[in-house]
Amino acid sequence: MTVAIRPAAFNDVPAILAIERQSASAAHWTREEYSKLVGSGVVLVGEEADKLCGFVCARAVAGEWEIENVLVAAEFLRRGIADELLRELVQRAESEVSAILLEVRESNLPARRLYEKHGFREVGRRREYYREPAEDAILYALRFNR
Ligand SMILES: CC(C)(COP(=O)(O)OP(=O)(O)OC[C@H]1O[C@@H](n2cnc3c(N)ncnc32)[C@H](O)[C@@H]1OP(=O)(O)O)[C@@H](O)C(=O)NCCC(=O)NCCS
Repeated sequence: MTVAIRPAAFNDVPAILAIERQSASAAHWTREEYSKLVGSGVVLVGEEADKLCGFVCARAVAGEWEIENVLVAAEFLRRGIADELLRELVQRAESEVSAILLEVRESNLPARRLYEKHGFREVGRRREYYREPAEDAILYALRFNR
């Protein structure tokens, strides 16, 4: 089964929240924050057989996009769905903004490998940026020649 990637609609927010709540390592956002991102930012969802299996969301800030979250539901992991989400996000960003930025927990190797695979480069570190547990954030950027 291949995954279909499309922009999220407001009525996807409950399914987005449901899979986000299953993940301990994901960033956690409220329903209102996701609705705001769907309305003004960039939220892409992955669907297989009409089931929402993952999403990536970004916020537009001063000519750049900042990835806020990327997540794939447990039963769909390691099947290339995040790859498809990132590929589509990067393709859209290239024609719209000068860069995509993000921060990620230092220990989150699956996410770091994913970003690196899509061309993101480490550009900095924020000491003890995260709480519970305290951990450094690694900053990544993907810059376009525009
Ligand atoms: C990170 C995450 C989105 C990857 O989703 P996925 O659909 O399983 O990833 P894919 O199958 O598309 O893999 C794409 C690439 O990601 C990297 N990757 C994914 N899972 C990995 C793992 N367990 N270990 C190491 N690298 C991994 C690899 O580079 C992989 O490419 P490869 O298959 O050629 O090696 C998923 O693990 C997840 O939802 N994690 C919890 C939420 C989270 O921490 N989000 C990130 C920051 S908020």
